[in-house]
Amino acid sequence: MGYLLGIDIGTSGTKTALFNEKGALIASETAGYPLYQPENGWAEQKPEDWWIAVVTTITAVLQKSGINGEDISGIGLSGQMHGLVMLDADNNVLRPAIIWCDQRTAKECDELEEIVGKEKIISITSNPPLTGFTASKILWVRNKEPQIYDKCRHILLPKDYIRFMLTGEYATEVSDAGGMQLLDVPNRHWSDEILSKLKIDKSLLARVYESPDETGRISLSAARITGLKAGTPVAGGAGDNAAAAVGMGVVRDGRGFVTIGTSGVVYAHTSFLSRDPKGRIHTLCSAVPGEWHIMGVTQAAGLSLKWFKDNLCDKEICYAEKTGENVYALLDRKASEVPVGSNGLFFLPYLMGERSPHLNPHARGGFIGLSASHTKADMLRAVMEGVTFSLKDCLDIFEAAGVRVENILACGGGGSSAFWRQMLADVFGCKIQSAISSEGAALGAAILGGVCSGIYGSVQSACDDICAASGNCTPDSENQIKYSHFYKLYASLYPALKNFYSECSKENLY
Ligand code: XUL
Repeated sequence: MGYLLGIDIGTSGTKTALFNEKGALIASETAGYPLYQPENGWAEQKPEDWWIAVVTTITAVLQKSGINGEDISGIGLSGQMHGLVMLDADNNVLRPAIIWCDQRTAKECDELEEIVGKEKIISITSNPPLTGFTASKILWVRNKEPQIYDKCRHILLPKDYIRFMLTGEYATEVSDAGGMQLLDVPNRHWSDEILSKLKIDKSLLARVYESPDETGRISLSAARITGLKAGTPVAGGAGDNAAAAVGMGVVRDGRGFVTIGTSGVVYAHTSFLSRDPKGRIHTLCSAVPGEWHIMGVTQAAGLSLKWFKDNLCDKEICYAEKTGENVYALLDRKASEVPVGSNGLFFLPYLMGERSPHLNPHARGGFIGLSASHTKADMLRAVMEGVTFSLKDCLDIFEAAGVRVENILACGGGGSSAFWRQMLADVFGCKIQSAISSEGAALGAAILGGVCSGIYGSVQSACDDICAASGNCTPDSENQIKYSHFYKLYASLYPALKNFYSECSKENLY
């Protein structure tokens, strides 16, 4: 039997996982690295740290499993999207990578809009200018560090830098390239129009493939350091969300997933190109050749609950430490004692500004409707409901864009809570399940490696055989009715506060 390797270059660490052809996990290893925040709102990582983590985890997985590099039929890569890696003519890293959550490029987004025009950008890249995406980061380096830009000969995304180190090839694939804001997303190739308007030389960019395509083979030098076999094929792979979708079998119409991690993601597969003309949600290529996905991102999902716990739940943290209970399980229990709607208390989860659907870095969070009769438990449930409503905000735009999701898988820390899954089912009004495998993006990357090496006939057929779901949370009809009413009230809050947010930001209050 052949084996497949999935390598996921995440923000907190790299996970390398080895699977057999049936998708069963044989061994996995994770290695972390720092996130540098040299200024408020900046976020950088060192590509060299990713590479060390990749080498360490591949070596460890081979050693742990006792599997030889020769027995690995294919490799797939996945990773954090949007990060900017710049190399000089000798392939030296020119500066730390500016990563997806960096917020320094508001001015460059205005520049993008002025030069190309907002509607034009949406019509070609399927997304409005975004600080998180790569194009504005490239403009920032050109504006602020021209001496570095002048030396730059190759621009790569995080996982594509690792591909370069493994194979010597400058290559990317459509799902991640779409997050650079330089790709013609409907037609799946670099946009000459955008590149020429922005005066970015196309030769700086990597060659674009579909996700399961072979993009290169393990080089002799990489084989020597990692223990992999020289010549092993490396698939295009996918950005972390598109790869997680493959790992969970979200590769057909009607299927979606929701992640409640630090940030929250709602994702739906679509075989036809579907876009929100206002660009309030992302449309990107999926890892299924010729198909797409749409996606909304809530910046502070699990982060909102963690903020609440860290600042207001000392008693609960102490109690959980004493009894050995998981503190989030304890918080779930407390929140479940409060009725649906948190006794009229609402929470806006905009602690980090908001991406989808409001695209407003100046939005801020808050409790609305607070009265002297409210308790900590009411506030706790309101936080969870507010995050769930913000995800529903995105789902509503999916529907307006013609994408209906009937079956949603929940993952991430929040998705592992049965209480939160039921809340998702009641608020979304659809069935919520959990993926059997928790390997997500690493499994998705490995599956793409398997399609590339000919073990599987297609991404979809591989997912049909490998990816299974469990647990059926169906909406409770009474709660669903109550929530649809509370959701309408929640949805009226952002428009009412929008001017307030602008005024506060003008006064530099935040
Ligand atoms: C997607 C996004 C994040 C990153 C980091 O647009 O910004 O999901 O890929 O995981």
